[in-house]
Amino acid sequence: APIQAPDLGNCNPPDLPTTAPDTNCCLTSGSSIGIIDFVLPPASSAPLRVRPATHLVDAEYLAKYERAVALMKQLPGDDPRSFEQQWRVHCAYCDGVYDQVGFPDLEIQVHNCWLFFPWHRFYLYFHERILGKLIGDDTFALPFWNWDAPAGMTLPAIYANRSSPLYNERRDPAHLPPFPVDLDYNEIDVIIPTDEQIDQNLNIMYRQMVSGAKKTQLFMGQPYRAGDQPDPGAGSVENVPHGTMHTWTGDPAQPNSEDMGNFYSAARDPIFFAHHGNIDRLWHVWRGLRPGNADFADADWLDTAFLFYDEEARAVRVRVRDCLDPAALGYAYQDVGLPWLKAKP
Ligand code: C2O
Repeated sequence: APIQAPDLGNCNPPDLPTTAPDTNCCLTSGSSIGIIDFVLPPASSAPLRVRPATHLVDAEYLAKYERAVALMKQLPGDDPRSFEQQWRVHCAYCDGVYDQVGFPDLEIQVHNCWLFFPWHRFYLYFHERILGKLIGDDTFALPFWNWDAPAGMTLPAIYANRSSPLYNERRDPAHLPPFPVDLDYNEIDVIIPTDEQIDQNLNIMYRQMVSGAKKTQLFMGQPYRAGDQPDPGAGSVENVPHGTMHTWTGDPAQPNSEDMGNFYSAARDPIFFAHHGNIDRLWHVWRGLRPGNADFADADWLDTAFLFYDEEARAVRVRVRDCLDPAALGYAYQDVGLPWLKAKP
């Protein structure tokens, strides 16, 4: 059977590393109007939101994005649309805060399994709509960190400006731009010429997206159903570059590579949403490379449900089957090409 949406009224303290500070990851109960079931926005009801690459945005876009994040950070901490509540959502679904309904000894964990891509897609979907609502712009789209293309292979400059609401101090100070990203980062900087690093990165992308992702489970991750132990196994891209780029971004001087290097703290860094924009884009790209046999047909996957708060602070129950097509959700990605497609090692 599919994993059901959690009962938000039944919140456990998070399972954190012993060196992490006490952290509350419970979500507010929000408004009292009850839970609504998600329905796709009617086609053509709103203009498409086109998510841009972080390194290609213009000043006008950046000003809007910064204003939206600043407003989100100003909302009271108990508003489900506040930045505080938004990062807690990630902690809640990653650190054992909610039990599987009907299985009080089993947590809900959205990583290391076939829920990784769909859960994060919905998370960004609602986050983006909340940001757009705060600035009164229903075309607002989150940016994506295009670390799979040479021009995007540094920490994006828009997040490195200390006076921006996109800035976060808990990052690796050695990895400021123009230091090149290492998509296969293993907690040590191996200094090689930048063009070699770029070639290695492209080879890794080819391996994770093409040669090592020929079957749905290899890319998406292992099945995880109601009553299963968490962490059955991650897909190729969830491990690398998703996990490696989390660690690459976090601060190694913090006990758990906070913020980006640990589940509970990762979404406190606004760059999380650009990193996951690219992860979400790569899911869409991979699906396009395998027409007809990309999605699991298993109803236990399709009917897995989650709860999120929408831009009106309503609790919404979503199902995986409703997130498979970004166009149906009203967004798309700027076309930036796929330089790694020709980078077979
Ligand atoms: Cu929920 Cu990038 O992790």
